[in-house]
Amino acid sequence: MSRICIFDAYGTLFDVGSAARRAAAEPGREALAERWQALAEAWRQKQLQYTWLRAITGEHADFWQVTQDALDWALEAAGLENEGLRPHLLDLYRELDAFPEVPATLGALKDVGCTCAILSNGAPGMLADAVASAGIGGWLDDVLLIESVGVFKPDARVYDMVGQRFDCRREDVLFVSSNGWDAAGAASYGFVTVWANRRGEPVDRLPGRPQHVVPDLARLPDLLETV
Ligand code: LAC
Repeated sequence: MSRICIFDAYGTLFDVGSAARRAAAEPGREALAERWQALAEAWRQKQLQYTWLRAITGEHADFWQVTQDALDWALEAAGLENEGLRPHLLDLYRELDAFPEVPATLGALKDVGCTCAILSNGAPGMLADAVASAGIGGWLDDVLLIESVGVFKPDARVYDMVGQRFDCRREDVLFVSSNGWDAAGAASYGFVTVWANRRGEPVDRLPGRPQHVVPDLARLPDLLETV
């Protein structure tokens, strides 16, 4: 049974769509209310693309910079540049909602003696804010930050951080991500990998395939008994 559970953060623990959704529900945000889903999707996709491109070209910038660059692209694409939204959405991104099952899942894993940690692209400040606002810090043994290696997932140097921190073998790690490409990268690397397929997407056609696929994190404590 794996005792070391490593979680991706954005999209896995934290609902990255919640910043635009919450802003769209505020009074006076009619333009955003019509377009928030497209904005949120473009913001996320550009954010991820920029991480991959910066990793490939060796032009690292931290995830907070990448998040702002992606938002600028998405606001322009949605025709929402002049709505005064930028600083507000960035503030909301620092206090994203955790998915509803996250606190109970982490609590259950800690109850059976698991080590639980985050391995995220997130920059230190933004991730500390998200963990604090979601109230999940008490269940985390550590938050591993890629800034110390200066490259984004799925570069193997990022996944190496887990073994270096917990002195464990790859196959002793249960790696959990909702991002299909991250699950593929972690599976290729040699972690026992769980893909939380929150959006019901097809599996990514990449060399690594996740060993387990679940709809969200609620079944993780039961799954852990079997691996
Ligand atoms: C993270 C991104 C991939 O948290 O969502 O690392």
